[in-house]
Amino acid sequence: MFHIWKRKAEKSILEPSGWPEGDNIPKHVAIIMDGNGRWAKKRGMPRIAGHHAGMKTVKRVTIAADDIGVEILTLYAFSTENWTRPQEEVDFLMRLPQEFLKIELNELIEKNVQVRMTGWREGLPAHTLQALDEAEAKTKNNTGLILNFALNYGSRREIADAARLLAEDALNGKISLGDITEESLADKLLTANISDPDLLIRTSGELRLSNFMLWQLAYTEFWFSPRFWPAFTKQDFYDAIREYQQRTRRYGGLK
Ligand code: IPE
Ligand code: IPE
Ligand code: MG
Repeated sequence: MFHIWKRKAEKSILEPSGWPEGDNIPKHVAIIMDGNGRWAKKRGMPRIAGHHAGMKTVKRVTIAADDIGVEILTLYAFSTENWTRPQEEVDFLMRLPQEFLKIELNELIEKNVQVRMTGWREGLPAHTLQALDEAEAKTKNNTGLILNFALNYGSRREIADAARLLAEDALNGKISLGDITEESLADKLLTANISDPDLLIRTSGELRLSNFMLWQLAYTEFWFSPRFWPAFTKQDFYDAIREYQQRTRRYGGLK
């Protein structure tokens, strides 16, 4: 009851134009969180200060997504190509999950959020995995928003791996060539258990996918923000959602 009242109060006083309504809230929102380095540079700070500031936006957007009933929020946090950055920056990025979860895990548990990860475990430091494993274990019985971190993720490798797994099954006689279909390939992807994103957001003005979910985004709606990730607001997020609600998804057919 208090929750409903609070929502209404927030909506009318704090966000007169912001709160998306209606039942066509995107089920799965994916975000390419970009622009941390430039945000910091603009302020004369080291790039890592931008990554640190970006954690606050993760929190802000997680709550905003949860509040309107988004079911899955995937955040692209580290790509397979990001390993080519200076070691110092990579080390800092690898410490962020535990730093974030140290501060936020209790509240995430309280909010019924389920923490997950999409990406390869190999190559990630033990301390990073440990923090994510702990969060996943402690939230696995929750039933609310799935907060999915794409970490050490790259789409081309994911698709190549899936092709190899299917080829292996075919060579071993477990399946026939006719069993290699869109569905069976999708089942071998790292995202086998989650639906395709309905809405993709990328911040920082870059208009590219940077090897993110090439297969899964086939019919996703795109929304780009010029804002750097640390400066991305709840209002920006709701603007994206409201624009999504205006779109007509045709999937190649006629509507
Ligand atoms: C996004 O910000 C975070 C990661 C890619 C890990 P960037 O670090 O890419 O920041 P810019 O794009 O250089 O400003
Ligand atoms: C994409 O951002 C990866 C993540 C946000 C984790 P990048 O900053 O790595 O992408 P490019 O290099 O500009 O394409
Ligand atoms: Mg970038």
